[in-house]
Amino acid sequence: MPNPRGPSHEPVLGSRSSMMVKTIITGLLALIVMIGVTILIIWLTIKPRTPAYFINNGSIHDYNLSKDYHLNASYNFVLKTFNPSKRMSVYYDKMELTLLFKNETIGSGVMPSWHQHKRNRTTSELDLESHNVKLSEAMSRDIEMVKSTNQVVVDLKMKGRIRSKLGIWKSRYYHMTVSCVNVVAEISKSLNGSRGNGNGVFCEACW
Ligand SMILES: *[C@@H]1O[C@H](CO)[C@@H](O)[C@H](O)[C@H]1NC(C)=O
Ligand SMILES: *[C@@H]1O[C@H](CO)[C@@H](O)[C@H](O)[C@H]1NC(C)=O
Ligand SMILES: *[C@@H]1O[C@H](CO)[C@@H](O)[C@H](O)[C@H]1NC(C)=O
Ligand SMILES: *[C@@H]1O[C@H](CO)[C@@H](O)[C@H](O)[C@H]1NC(C)=O
Ligand SMILES: *[C@@H]1O[C@H](CO)[C@@H](O)[C@H](O)[C@H]1NC(C)=O
Ligand SMILES: *[C@@H]1O[C@H](CO)[C@@H](O)[C@H](O)[C@H]1NC(C)=O
Repeated sequence: MPNPRGPSHEPVLGSRSSMMVKTIITGLLALIVMIGVTILIIWLTIKPRTPAYFINNGSIHDYNLSKDYHLNASYNFVLKTFNPSKRMSVYYDKMELTLLFKNETIGSGVMPSWHQHKRNRTTSELDLESHNVKLSEAMSRDIEMVKSTNQVVVDLKMKGRIRSKLGIWKSRYYHMTVSCVNVVAEISKSLNGSRGNGNGVFCEACW
């Protein structure tokens, strides 16, 4: 073990090897900082590519509007999600679902957390409910009127957090809102449960 401070060493050699140690330490520190900065940059920038969302087959079951304008109903939609990325998979946190009729909230639901692989298409069912929701008199009249056509046009909003995974890297969470406007939900009369029609809408995602 060379000892740079040892008396047997020439001063020139001593300072040269201590310089080398300093250089190595400085180099290592620089490398560690660079790796840290790289990790930080990756973590901050690997935003998921916007997945695509499509909704169809909306249906309404067990619709009951009382005389004092309280609404009970359950809703079902089919959501198709596509992750366009060739490299990243997407983690979805639990999403909160809101159903709007003429810009007013009439129902809600939850979509449990899930994970979507790269280039994957997944079809999932969304279940929402109106649980004794108080409507205004005007809203009640409107919804009764459109109901008589057996179709109700609603908006569906999904709110939650997503993050992506690239190899072993996981990004931070991004808050995301998905808006699906003018989704047709058919009133289901048959006990079998009509599945609604196949015409659907693409939703807009933003974060
Ligand atoms: C709607 O709800 C009321 C009160 O809960 C009930 O009396 C009535 O039978 C229900 N109507 C239908 C069609 O389910
Ligand atoms: C809705 O359901 C609740 C119980 O779940 C019941 O108390 C209420 O009367 C129902 N309202 C209508 C309009 O059916
Ligand atoms: C709903 O609200 C948006 C803005 O928040 C507005 O542009 C739109 O016209 C409203 N739609 C209805 C049916 O009131
Ligand atoms: C998408 O992922 C789900 C769940 O991992 C899987 O069941 C399904 O087969 C995949 N679909 C395609 C088209 O890869
Ligand atoms: C409901 O199901 C029964 C048998 O399960 C079938 O005979 C009937 O046609 C179905 N009705 C509708 C509207 O699909
Ligand atoms: C959605 O509706 C279309 C057209 O009616 C039908 O072919 C399809 O099977 C339905 N999808 C689901 C998941 O029910």
